[in-house]
Amino acid sequence: MRVEGLDTPALVIELPRVQANLKRAQAFADKVGLELRPHIKTHKLPFFAKMQVEYGAAGITCQKLGEAEVMADAGLADIFLPYNILGRDKLDRLAALHRRVAMSVTADSGETLDGYAGRFTDTARPLPVLVECDTGGGRCGVQSPREALELARRIAGAPGLRFDGLMTYPPRGKPAQVEAWLAEAVALLDADGLTPGRVSNGGSPDYYRSDVVRSATEHRPGTYIYSDRMQVGYGHSTLEDCALTVLATVVSRPTADRAILDAGSKALAADRCDAGGHGHLVGYPDAVVASLSEEHAVVDLSRCAARPRVGDKVRVVPNHACVVSNLFDVANLAVDGEIVESLPILARGRMG
Ligand SMILES: Cc1ncc(COP(=O)(O)O)c(C=O)c1O
Repeated sequence: MRVEGLDTPALVIELPRVQANLKRAQAFADKVGLELRPHIKTHKLPFFAKMQVEYGAAGITCQKLGEAEVMADAGLADIFLPYNILGRDKLDRLAALHRRVAMSVTADSGETLDGYAGRFTDTARPLPVLVECDTGGGRCGVQSPREALELARRIAGAPGLRFDGLMTYPPRGKPAQVEAWLAEAVALLDADGLTPGRVSNGGSPDYYRSDVVRSATEHRPGTYIYSDRMQVGYGHSTLEDCALTVLATVVSRPTADRAILDAGSKALAADRCDAGGHGHLVGYPDAVVASLSEEHAVVDLSRCAARPRVGDKVRVVPNHACVVSNLFDVANLAVDGEIVESLPILARGRMG
């Protein structure tokens, strides 16, 4: 089937662009001596997780236990969950995963560690734990290299846990600052005999500058597989690299300057980006996706020479690809305008 034959709204992934994005990133990792541990939050598809590993990734990263369960069921064998896992139910699910695949997790507090240490007591198969570090991103993470050392000591002292290293989700545009933080922490750990086996950095915006973070041993890019308008704005890629689009139908042309698409916030998500608007209309570079309601996108055509008509199908590059993947049941893979595969997005909607 041709892409235009799909009912709308539909998620369309350009397979050759995915393959090019993955190859480029893997080649960079190989060149600078970093292991890749891609974050599957962007695609949520075992098919692409396996492709990432085939291309050379050391393992994958998931954000949710539910995502990790889907990936383990599909045969992915090395899964990093950089999250504080709290509560008996989640710890039980983590223990079940740990029994069948190589799991690793993070902690940034004594409370999280107490939970791990209470649930994981098998000295023959300790749970690998990394300390999450806030290197300026202002989300989770210990606030200083010294705190990282203190938590590392507690992990190393718990019989059922293994101190595996450090992890950070870095602030955008500040790789030198990230490196300074991590280098100080690594030096403290080295001096204490707790040399970290892994130092895990992440994110796509600065991926092609990640060699500046010399203390890192691995990187967790997620959005790089599809890219999106945000990443184009950050200089990570170009619109021609963007592999994920939402196919939509023009359902109304109420005025000469306005088109309405059947892809609202339920299909495109409402994340904003510096370029403005809610997406890029392929083939209509001057169109502005001006506003969204749940089932409608309002497109301003006032600056467009060519204008789509009612019933035309158009493709929209969204602002943020990861959230869009979570909204669709099926990913349609396309090559040269032909749908070659339609895959259920198995790890979508995994909230816990
Ligand atoms: C912990 C963690 N690692 C890696 C990533 C991947 O980042 P990006 O999508 O910018 O590549 C994310 C994204 O939110 C994340 O939260």
